[in-house]
Amino acid sequence: MTMSSSAHLFIFFIFLISTASTILATDHIVGANRGWNPGINYTLWANNHTFYVGDLISFRYQKNQYNVFEVNQSGYDNCTTEGAFGNWSSGKDFVPLNDAKRYYFICGNGQCYSGMKVSVVVHPLPTAPTPHISLPLSSHSAAPMPVVLHRGWGFRLLPLLLFFCFDLVWI
Ligand SMILES: *[C@@H]1O[C@H](CO)[C@@H](O)[C@H](O)[C@H]1NC(C)=O
Ligand SMILES: *[C@@H]1O[C@H](CO)[C@@H](O)[C@H](O)[C@H]1NC(C)=O
Ligand SMILES: *[C@@H]1O[C@H](CO)[C@@H](O)[C@H](O)[C@H]1NC(C)=O
Ligand SMILES: *[C@@H]1O[C@H](CO)[C@@H](O)[C@H](O)[C@H]1NC(C)=O
Ligand SMILES: *[C@@H]1O[C@H](CO)[C@@H](O)[C@H](O)[C@H]1NC(C)=O
Repeated sequence: MTMSSSAHLFIFFIFLISTASTILATDHIVGANRGWNPGINYTLWANNHTFYVGDLISFRYQKNQYNVFEVNQSGYDNCTTEGAFGNWSSGKDFVPLNDAKRYYFICGNGQCYSGMKVSVVVHPLPTAPTPHISLPLSSHSAAPMPVVLHRGWGFRLLPLLLFFCFDLVWI
């Protein structure tokens, strides 16, 4: 391998590392370091976060003391779990937010009345290719190769990126 191709490889891996955060889904920890507990206004917490399809919301709490139910708006407003869509009780629950809609979560043991309820709006992934990153992979390549990264596309694009990179480097 020549100096120049190893330099290209190095630049490529720096690029990979720097884009990893755009590729990975965000895990939104409810209440941040205060976790899922009574007496916290989770509306304030939710207003401070932007949720996208494919993100996770996670609940951290004392196992056996609290739990999590996904309910509809009536359940959220009235603190009732009838017809709940799901329930979790591990103490460290990760819930994938797979749909662009409003989600409602409450604690099912009465603590909903003490504020253990949270509602979040999940936004669709942006359809416009917002971040454009042009990679000067090789000084010999005829045209610069524009690499468009997209939240959620990353996993599908990675093998393609790797293929192009190694193809260019080893030629
Ligand atoms: C939580 O904060 C929101 C936004 O400031 C406010 O509208 C709401 O009344 C608060 N909820 C409680 C239970 O204090
Ligand atoms: C909102 O987020 C900022 C930055 O992460 C943080 O400093 C602030 O404490 C947060 N506010 C609430 C109400 O969580
Ligand atoms: C629950 O709250 C909704 C408002 O979201 C209200 O219309 C409904 O009457 C309530 N249901 C019960 C059983 O209290
Ligand atoms: C929520 O679910 C309950 C129980 O399945 C149902 O009676 C109620 O109509 C639903 N409310 C909404 C707003 O979908
Ligand atoms: C919790 O969810 C399981 C399925 O995952 C269901 O069988 C069970 O009835 C639910 N529990 C309650 C209290 O809704």
